[in-house]
This record gives sequence, C-alpha cells and structure tokens, in this order.
Amino acid sequence: MTAAAPTPDTLAAFEAAKGFMPVGEGLALYAAAAEAAQRLRLPVLEVGTYCGRSTLLLADAARAAGVTAVTVDHHRGSEEQQPGWEYHDPTVVDPEVGVMDTLPTFRRTLRRAGLEEHVVAIVGRSPRAARLWGTPLALVFIDGGHTDEHATGDYEGWAPHVAPEGLLVIHDVFPDPADGGQAPYRVHQRALASGAFTEVSVTDSLRVLRRTGPGL
Ligand SMILES: C[S@@+](CC[C@H](N)C(=O)[O-])C[C@H]1O[C@@H](n2cnc3c(N)ncnc32)[C@H](O)[C@@H]1O
Repeated sequence: MTAAAPTPDTLAAFEAAKGFMPVGEGLALYAAAAEAAQRLRLPVLEVGTYCGRSTLLLADAARAAGVTAVTVDHHRGSEEQQPGWEYHDPTVVDPEVGVMDTLPTFRRTLRRAGLEEHVVAIVGRSPRAARLWGTPLALVFIDGGHTDEHATGDYEGWAPHVAPEGLLVIHDVFPDPADGGQAPYRVHQRALASGAFTEVSVTDSLRVLRRTGPGL
C-alpha cells in the first residue's frame, strides 16, 4: 500500500516555508499523522511550531481525517535560534521589542496555504499548555526545545496524552553524538524503555513510535 501524501499545494507550501524539516522526514510525518488521525479520529498535536513548516503537513492530514491539528510554541525561539547562534534568522525578530517572534510568519504561512481552519495554535510554554490538556491525541509530534530540560518537559507533558494505539513522533533523534544533540535521543530511549511505546518507523532523524502499552 502506498503511504498517504500531502496535496501538491501543501507540499509546495511546505517546501517554500521557513523551517528545519527536510522533505523526506516531512513525508514520513504526514503519513504517520494521516494514518493515525484517520484510524483514531482524534486530534494531532505538535510541540514546536516555529514558522509553520511541519504544521502545514499536520494541518493537511487533519483536514483529510476531519480532525484538528494543534500546535504549541511560545514563538520566542529555542536556544540555538537566538541572536549569535547557528540557527538565528534576523527576519523573525520583532523590531519593537527586540526579541524573536515567529507567530506572524507562522500565521502567514498557514493563511497562504489555506489551512487556517484546521489548526488551533497555542502560544505559550509547552509544559504549561500540557498541564491544561485533557483530550486523547491520535499523534504527538515533539520538535520543540532541544535541551534536556525542554525535550524532557515535552515528553513528560504530552506523551501521557497519546491515545492507546496512537503515535508519538520525535524529531532530531541522533544516536551518534557526532550527528547532533542528544536530548531528543534520550527522550526516544526513555519512551522505548517505558514499555508504553514500540518503534514502528525510522526516517533519517524522525522516529515514529506506537503506544502499545500503559506504562507511563
Ligand atoms: C526546531 S523549532 C520547530 C521547527 C518546526 N517544527 C519546523 O518544522 O520548522 C523549535 C521551536 O520550539 C519552540 N520552543 C522551544 N522550547 C519551547 C517550549 N518550552 N515551549 C514552547 N515552545 C518551545 C521554539 O520557539 C521553536 O519555534
């Protein structure tokens, strides 16, 4: 069976959007979200909106399944996106207050792709939002802060909300420290060790796990 794919318009919008996700990983994320949302008929949720690149794919998958994509970000950028760091983009600094604000770019991205209707954006810190949350989710995609503090907070806050047989997707999992930071990898290892998740696919640094046990 061929994996579900985003519409050509969504794929073009994804490729044009600011952000960090390569196309191959994006297609794997879309396929996971479309499959889980169709099967479970529950919302999908992302931690780490940035400018909406990966959100477009979740929104398209949510639209196809008749559910909602939720995306969480404080829009002030991660450590490595701050001025002077490797992934800083000066065009997403708010000149009035002098700090990063990716929310306007995200809203433009979503609007231009015609996907606004399918997304609820939460602006705030991931653990705070998770503490308010009470709805089971078909899929949780973790792509927020890449320090241990933030990646662990995202996992502890959101993994318990993955529905039975739902999916937990983690980005930037690098088993070899030479390839990248280790915090997402440590979260990935913790999820597997919990007994609650089983790995179902690997696409470069994108790992898809299925909730197959209680254990959280
Ligand atoms: C790697 S970027 C997300 C990239 C995006 N998924 C894409 O495909 O382009 C990480 C984002 O997580 C956000 N972030 C980092 N720590 C956070 C936290 N504790 N709560 C909410 N958002 C956070 C940052 O503001 C940043 O926009």
